This record gives sequence, structure tokens and C-alpha cells, in this order.
Amino acid sequence: MFETLQPAAPDGILMLMSLYRDDPRTDKLDLGVGVYKDVDGKTPVMRAVREAERRLHKTQASKSYLGLAGDVVFNELMIGLVFGEKAERPRLRAAQTPGGTGALRLLADLIAASRPDTTVWVPDPTWPNHMPILRAAGLTARTYPYFDSTTGSVRFDAMIEALKGAAPGDVVLLHGCCHNPTGADLSAAQWETVAALLAERGLTPFVDIAYQGFGDGLEKDAAGLRILAAHVPELLAAASCSKNFSVYRDRAGAALLLGRNAAEADTAYGQLLGLARGIWSMPPDHAAACVRIVLEDDDLRADWKAELEAVRLRMLSLREGFAEALRRQSNSDRFDFIARQRGMFSRLGLTGEQVSRLRAKHGVYIVGDSRFNVAGLPGDRLDALATKVVSVL
Ligand code: LMR
Repeated sequence: MFETLQPAAPDGILMLMSLYRDDPRTDKLDLGVGVYKDVDGKTPVMRAVREAERRLHKTQASKSYLGLAGDVVFNELMIGLVFGEKAERPRLRAAQTPGGTGALRLLADLIAASRPDTTVWVPDPTWPNHMPILRAAGLTARTYPYFDSTTGSVRFDAMIEALKGAAPGDVVLLHGCCHNPTGADLSAAQWETVAALLAERGLTPFVDIAYQGFGDGLEKDAAGLRILAAHVPELLAAASCSKNFSVYRDRAGAALLLGRNAAEADTAYGQLLGLARGIWSMPPDHAAACVRIVLEDDDLRADWKAELEAVRLRMLSLREGFAEALRRQSNSDRFDFIARQRGMFSRLGLTGEQVSRLRAKHGVYIVGDSRFNVAGLPGDRLDALATKVVSVL
């Protein structure tokens, strides 16, 4: 059987992790995979999550199954986090998933079950795993223009023009905030325009919100999604706790859906859980239980928010510092966009060959499209790093 298989194409981001690991240089720098790093280059367990783990350890009496939807209290809390505490709930449903990727795949399967012939429109560029997930669900995917690398901002007019060409019933994948890989997000006014267009043309938004809290703050980062939810009859959203609760390897996320009415939401939710039964059956509990404990407890929630805000502000100041260092070292404003963008990623705008030289010559690891992880920037050596970048231009 296996002789029929071709070697799998490596994932560009994950391959970089192993290349970095195998590099013997002591001054190497990992700006590849999207994990938060503190000033010491560590990815810490957040204080509130640590305390939640301690409480869970003391009180958890059983590890028996919870059910297809996972932890139902976690699910309700995730609805509040993403759609807002005041969101009206009768049309909203949530299922716990293994990370944001699990949510994306489950929702893609739901789209395929509902409308197998639908086209999903994804931004160009997008997270490299979006296309494989959609294809694995049997869906057709097409791209819409999104990023202007000369200005570092969104090609909004071109995006709208392309979406006007989508057929009613199509699905539009949008990054809720902190666009991965470009860091270029829609403004509130642009979200309004997109929402009106989707509603008018009968297109369904599918929002990937994996970095809530990393851009402009927890509430502001969900504002675009909430604008959509106020305009359209149906919406799908994949949320992740990997980044904002720093529980990466434990895999917690949520597949969220808004139905036209409560009855349709229930039907879609039932199908969603049936699909989960055929993939992972019931999701892993640990990280979701910790998130639930944090969000249920006022003190832990406040401490988590404070730590998350510090993480966000650190990334913002690294953005500003790096843009300034690049301005000094390149004697140009070519990289100023880095300070304007948001979230964990931006693209330097280097060619593939320049990216390879940066790695070979200086041990600086960034993704092939020149995406770098803002959180991995060395705050005390930004000029030295900028010199290396400029040396490969
Ligand atoms: C990233 O984009 O680096 C993260 O989302 C990690 C991943 O799974 O690719």
C-alpha cells in the first residue's frame, strides 16, 4: 500500500523548527514559528494558567469522558470572549476543539457537509495551512487579493472587487485580527464595508481568530468579527487558545457558529459534533479546563488579562524598536510599516534567496516568505539584527 505514496511536501514553518534545532551556532536566532517568547527567549506558562493547573490537579476527581463538545462551560466562556459578554446567545453555538487548527478543520468539514460545491475565498497571502485544511475537507478554495507589499497595508479596493465576483453561498475566510503572515489588518470602517458586502451578496464569513489579544487588545481584536456577526445571518469562527493563553502544545480552541435562528443553529451544531465524532471523537481536556478555570474566576481572569496585555505591549514596543533600527541601518523608511502593523508577524519583504542568505550567513531563521516572529526579536540587539538584514538586501 505505502509504495503508492509520494513523500509529503514539508510544511515551511515546521521544517524551519527542525532546521533551527539542528543548527550548532550559539548565536542563531529563531524568528520562525509563531510562539510568544519573553525577554529571555522563553515561552512561559502564564501565571493564571499555572494556578489553574494547580487547582485542577487538586480538585479533578475523574478523567472520564466529557462528551463530543468537550467542556460545555469552556464553550460558553469562549462565546463570551469572542462575541462579547453581551452577545445574544440563542443563535450562537461553540464546540471545544484541539487548537484553532482543529476548529478550522471541523468547520471546513461542516461547510463541505452543507454545501459541497461551495468555494471558499481566502486572502492572498494567508497562513500556509489554510489551503491544505480546506482541500482536505474536499472544498474548492480561491484567493482574493489582500496585501500590498509596497505599502505594507491591505489592498482593500482589490479585495472588495474580487469578493464581488464570489457566488452567493460562497464562504469568505477572514483573519479576525493580527493577519498571519502580514500583520496588516482591516480598519473598523473596512470591516463595515466587508460586512455589508457579504450580507448583500449572501456570502458567509469564516473567521480565523487565532491571535485575539495580540493586536490592539482583547475587545478591539474581536471588533471586526462582531461587526460581521451584527450584519450577516450565518457566521463560522475558529478561535484558538494557543497564543493568548500560551497553551500551545496542550491544544485548546473552539469552533463557533452563528445560525439564522436557534433551530438551524442546533441542527448545524449537531452535525458539527457528529463530524467531530469521526475525527477525534472528544477533544483533549487539560488546556480547556485551565482556560475555563481562569475565565470563571475574577482574580485569575484579571491576572491573565494583565499578563496578556503586557505581552501585547512588549510586541508593540519590539515592532517600534525594530522599525527604528532598520531605519537607522538602511538609511531609509522602507521598513516603517513594521511599526504600523499588528500582532505576532510581519514580512520583511525579502526574496527567498535573501531569506536563505540571512539563515546561512547570520543564523537568523525567518519563514521563506520573509515572515518573522515579532516576539522573537532580541530587544537589546535590534541594531545588530537590522545590520544583518540590511547586509542581505
Ligand atoms: C504559525 O503560523 O507559525 C503558527 O500558527 C504555528 C503553526 O502551526 O503554523
